[in-house]
Amino acid sequence: MFAPLLTLLGLVAANAVEQFTPVDMLSTPRPQAAIASPDGLHAISVVDQWNEADDTMSRTLNILDLDGLEQLKENNKRIRKIWTAPTSQGHDFIWLSKDTVAYVNGSALLQFSIGAATTEPTKVLDFPEGTEPSGLQYDSDSGALVFSAAVWEANLDLDKTGAGDKAYEDRGDSGLVLDDLFVRHWDTWRIPGRIYTLGLARLSNRDGAFSGSKFENILKGTGLYSQMDAISEFSLRGNSVAVALKPNDISVATHTRMEVYVVNLDKLGDKPAHITPGKLGAVSGVELSGDGSKLAWLQMAEDGYESDKRVVTVHTFASSKTEAWTKNWDRSPDSLVWSADSSSLYGTAEYKGRVLPYHFPAAGKLPVPLLFDGSTSSIDPLNHSTFLISRSSMQHPTEIFFLDLEEGDEPGHDPHKRPAEQVFQITHYSEAHIAGRLDGHKPEDIWFEGVDGFRVHAWVLKPRGWSKDDKAGSYPLAFLIHGGPQGAWDDSWSTRWNPAVYASAGYFVVAVNPTGSTGYGQEFCDRIQNHWGDRPYQDLLIGYGAALDKYPQIDKNRTVALGASYGGFMVNWINGHNSFGFKAMVYHDGMLSTTDTFFSTEELWFPLREFEGSPMDVRDNYERWNPMNHVSNWKTPTLVVQGGLDFRLSESMGIATFTALQFQGIESRFLYFPDENHWVLKPHNSRRWHTEVLRWLDQHVGHGKK
Ligand SMILES: *[C@@H]1O[C@H](CO)[C@@H](O)[C@H](O)[C@H]1NC(C)=O
Ligand SMILES: *[C@@H]1O[C@H](CO)[C@@H](O)[C@H](O)[C@H]1NC(C)=O
Ligand SMILES: *[C@@H]1O[C@H](CO)[C@@H](O)[C@H](O)[C@H]1NC(C)=O
Repeated sequence: MFAPLLTLLGLVAANAVEQFTPVDMLSTPRPQAAIASPDGLHAISVVDQWNEADDTMSRTLNILDLDGLEQLKENNKRIRKIWTAPTSQGHDFIWLSKDTVAYVNGSALLQFSIGAATTEPTKVLDFPEGTEPSGLQYDSDSGALVFSAAVWEANLDLDKTGAGDKAYEDRGDSGLVLDDLFVRHWDTWRIPGRIYTLGLARLSNRDGAFSGSKFENILKGTGLYSQMDAISEFSLRGNSVAVALKPNDISVATHTRMEVYVVNLDKLGDKPAHITPGKLGAVSGVELSGDGSKLAWLQMAEDGYESDKRVVTVHTFASSKTEAWTKNWDRSPDSLVWSADSSSLYGTAEYKGRVLPYHFPAAGKLPVPLLFDGSTSSIDPLNHSTFLISRSSMQHPTEIFFLDLEEGDEPGHDPHKRPAEQVFQITHYSEAHIAGRLDGHKPEDIWFEGVDGFRVHAWVLKPRGWSKDDKAGSYPLAFLIHGGPQGAWDDSWSTRWNPAVYASAGYFVVAVNPTGSTGYGQEFCDRIQNHWGDRPYQDLLIGYGAALDKYPQIDKNRTVALGASYGGFMVNWINGHNSFGFKAMVYHDGMLSTTDTFFSTEELWFPLREFEGSPMDVRDNYERWNPMNHVSNWKTPTLVVQGGLDFRLSESMGIATFTALQFQGIESRFLYFPDENHWVLKPHNSRRWHTEVLRWLDQHVGHGKK
């Protein structure tokens, strides 16, 4: 009599998957991309984790043992923990040799040997006070350590940054005096006269103990510097440093143009070689080949357009020839790395809601995808057939994989059909934490015909507790609208907008990638220019209808929309043109007025390009897509969220949106974070964000099966 009852209870328990709550998501391990050692036998693997109980973020430094793929497959326990410490105590991890790891802790560069009995760190050097060293690169042949460093324009000397900072702090008032644009960027005000350069220290190596003490500014006397941000686009090989910077004769607020220069560390003070050929757009992914003979980067053609197609470009020093490798390829890679033998390149690029690792074999040859699923954040070629890959999906944060290709894995190979033994997962950091709770939320692709016949893609996630036998209209829908607008919902992990969190809270999730989204070819991305309110709006509306048709279990009467940044613009636009019938919406750091935003935002190149000019020149273009002009049509209850340190879409836009709602008697609530920028990054603030957002949804459409 008891047995069948127990079986029954067991069945019920097995079906009832526990919720993966926002706090569970926030406290899931956050692994970073792995960094292979120079001999490819080890990798640095750093994992951050939030502990809710004491509200601390800890960082764990692990060393992965990659020796012998076959053994690795058999014995998966080759992860060695070196330390766990507050995140502030370790960043910029690099290899100084095949068995020496270094990292920055405060102002010190520390080292330890992975081969030694003790991994107690010792000091390599102390960076000069106030220089904020970042982006460290080391070359073992030349002994050069190069890093981004803050200096004062008045002396350009790393050793004088601390004194300059002190004099500035002691100036006796808090006034900032500025004579040109870019008075602030992202979440930081510009300090007049304080700039970023590249610093150099030569390290000496005595029996594996590295040291150094002298610091030089390698851009001193060249007129090159970065006005407001640390320099991140540079590459060191031997005594050469390639660096991409905005030239200082153009306005940093209205241009994206960058130029590539090469500095010879043996001839500091000489004029750097100017490599880029003409007046083009932004440059990223700067990478010197291992043998130093070539320089690769990703080049955008149009100055001012931050979402232009990135073209793999290679400069050969011997011939002074610059070649575009992927001009005829309709994808926009976002990272580059040379093959071990310096003959070809690897990288990552968005492709239809994923980020795939690619091989770029040569100029004009079609790139080959190496893997299909999920989103790859980095690829490290250990040799021509083995790769270390860091990749995530909507169901798990970054994990580290080996990709073991057979000889002759050539173009034409279908990466959909890659056998499992070629993709071997090395780390399982988040598995125990997630504990199968996201298995039911595997994102499904849907495609539909959008505006002007373009095929449009969306992701759908089913809610927790979903069963194919559930009747029509069982579940509410969370309709997610991404920012950018040149961006995309990819099958990747995020701690800010994580679709699985809504699915686990009991919502169907629909995330459309409308006109303007990236990863679907350049034309689809470009078509949003001067079409902010029509093409993407129509695509979202058609996608919404397509999802409701395909998934009748969604309750048409219980749908809500959520969006940040451009998604917040779209929430306000939808409120003025509501054809969806959303019961409530969530606006985060968006826009009420296109014209006001032009005058208060920092990266002016963006509205100039999106609206084809300034409000002085093309006021109609701004007014055509101005949500403020339709504010009297608003009816939908809206939660307004705003970060006080958001200098992109400033807090007056959040306040204005809330005023428009409250003044017209529309149900609304204001959630303000004085210490957050365009993103809510602090875990305790993100917990509050999720609590308020899910409460708002629940109040208006409930959650889970009806
Ligand atoms: C490539 O590297 C992997 C990992 O270190 C190693 O197991 C493999 O034997 C190497 N293959 C070749 C062809 O060198
Ligand atoms: C960082 O430096 C501090 C101060 O010297 C030290 O107490 C701490 O152990 C160091 N942490 C790591 C991870 O090196
Ligand atoms: C839709 O929801 C509203 C409450 O938001 C309710 O009054 C109405 O009856 C619902 N309509 C249907 C068809 O279920």
